[in-house]
Amino acid sequence: MILIVDFGSQTTHLISRRIREKHPNVIVVEPGNITSHINKDLKGIILSGGPSSVYEKGAPQITKDIFELSVPILGICYGLHLMAKTLGGTVTSGKKKEYGPAELSIIKKNNLFKDMPPQFNVWMSHGDEVSKLPQGFIKVGHSKTTQFAAFCNEKKKLYAIQFHPEVVHTEFGETILENFLSICGIKPQQRKIDKEYVDILTESIKSGLGNAHAICALSGGVDSSVVSVLTHKAIGKKLTAIYIDSGLMRKNETTELEKVFTSHFKMNIKIVHAQNIFLKRLKGITDPEQKRKIIGKTFIDVFEKEAKKIGATYFIQGTIYPDVIESAGTKHSKKIKSHHNVGGLPKKLNFKLIEPLRNLYKDEVRQVGKVLGLPDRVIQRQPFPGPGLAVRIIGEVTEYKLKILRNADSIMREELEKTSDYKNIWQSLAVFTGIRSTGVRGDNRAYGETIALRIISAKDAMSAHWTHVPYETLDTISVRIVNEIPEVNRVVYDITNKPPATIEWE
Ligand code: XMP
Repeated sequence: MILIVDFGSQTTHLISRRIREKHPNVIVVEPGNITSHINKDLKGIILSGGPSSVYEKGAPQITKDIFELSVPILGICYGLHLMAKTLGGTVTSGKKKEYGPAELSIIKKNNLFKDMPPQFNVWMSHGDEVSKLPQGFIKVGHSKTTQFAAFCNEKKKLYAIQFHPEVVHTEFGETILENFLSICGIKPQQRKIDKEYVDILTESIKSGLGNAHAICALSGGVDSSVVSVLTHKAIGKKLTAIYIDSGLMRKNETTELEKVFTSHFKMNIKIVHAQNIFLKRLKGITDPEQKRKIIGKTFIDVFEKEAKKIGATYFIQGTIYPDVIESAGTKHSKKIKSHHNVGGLPKKLNFKLIEPLRNLYKDEVRQVGKVLGLPDRVIQRQPFPGPGLAVRIIGEVTEYKLKILRNADSIMREELEKTSDYKNIWQSLAVFTGIRSTGVRGDNRAYGETIALRIISAKDAMSAHWTHVPYETLDTISVRIVNEIPEVNRVVYDITNKPPATIEWE
């Protein structure tokens, strides 16, 4: 059993729900009732946060003997103050109060912070702070404002953290709670993504944002769609999702997106039609890297302009766990392509960043989307690159090429969707190769465009295998493309794996 002692924090129930996701036997008790729960089943105690100041008259207290029980104890916020004060440390009113996001720097590794980077963002909400540690404790981490933001007596398994690991805005919060369970000798259960889990996520976003306004960048991809709908569930119209139509999208994408998010979910969406500026800036550009950079920069310019008009304080980003790992792991690796993610946008804008999905894997994000009622077409959407169709057009990007490519892509998708194997395809894309070749149409010579089809199977995008699509399906796609798009007279199938070829052609 894990005992959570409630000192009145708004988020005590969140601690309990977070722990319950990993381990069912959790009891929340009033400080006065601890002793009645001390028995052989007790594996660990969590001291919650609370609105009081430990020196205040009538502030809830605990007795020193709790710390002599030989069970691991984790003090959170007020729980940290109480642990420090009860064991002989000093708590004072902080010169600067700390509310909201802060950066935690870990100066000493311990079991609570196992497998975590030396710096990460946490969520604070306190006026008091510890100014002197009790004997036997060591400092583990600090923030800019708080000297003792984390400390411990590892020998006695007593841990204290000033921030709130139970709210989603604390990076690695879930891992910290899991680590605490491991310290207690409990093997955390696997996460189950169900309605209750999604409710906790929603509540956690809500409690962190309060009355603040937030924006997010909606691309129509799985992650940004799920995080938008989730945040909308938490704060409703206080969220504005910005969608930039770069003109480099697939056929009917903008209209479909508008239908789902505006009509169905009634979200506050700002659709920015920016096709002209993108095409203007791409005029005459043939180098793939230059294209990517121009598109990335244009996204930022357009986004900044729109974001400023809205005036929100928070930016919600659909970062998922593999992105966290990837961005940490790519420090010394060589750049293959300048990846552009709408997610990386707002650095210059000084938003407070929130990433509610950062603990989840892609399939879990899809599950969250399912619980939220997102249509299958959105949830099962294939990855689509930030620079869109521009990296599937070799050479200069023009309206003419975009139109042909959009139609070819749409035909291929329609035909593949009819097959039972569609769900197993990682990505299917058409490429405007820029190669012209000779053909014959109605007894006349034709000199037309070549479309390449790339259909791949993968577990992640690090490696991929070309898919053995039935010949009949390939035949139907090819016949339809050359018949329905007069400018195209040749269709080829890309049978290269990654590596050595990348998935996108540019
Ligand atoms: P490559 O072409 O590098 O692609 O094998 C690997 C995966 O990443 C997608 N991709 C991108 N995604 N911004 C993105 O968000 C980008 O700039 C970008 N470029 C490629 C690609 O579709 C594949 O899934």
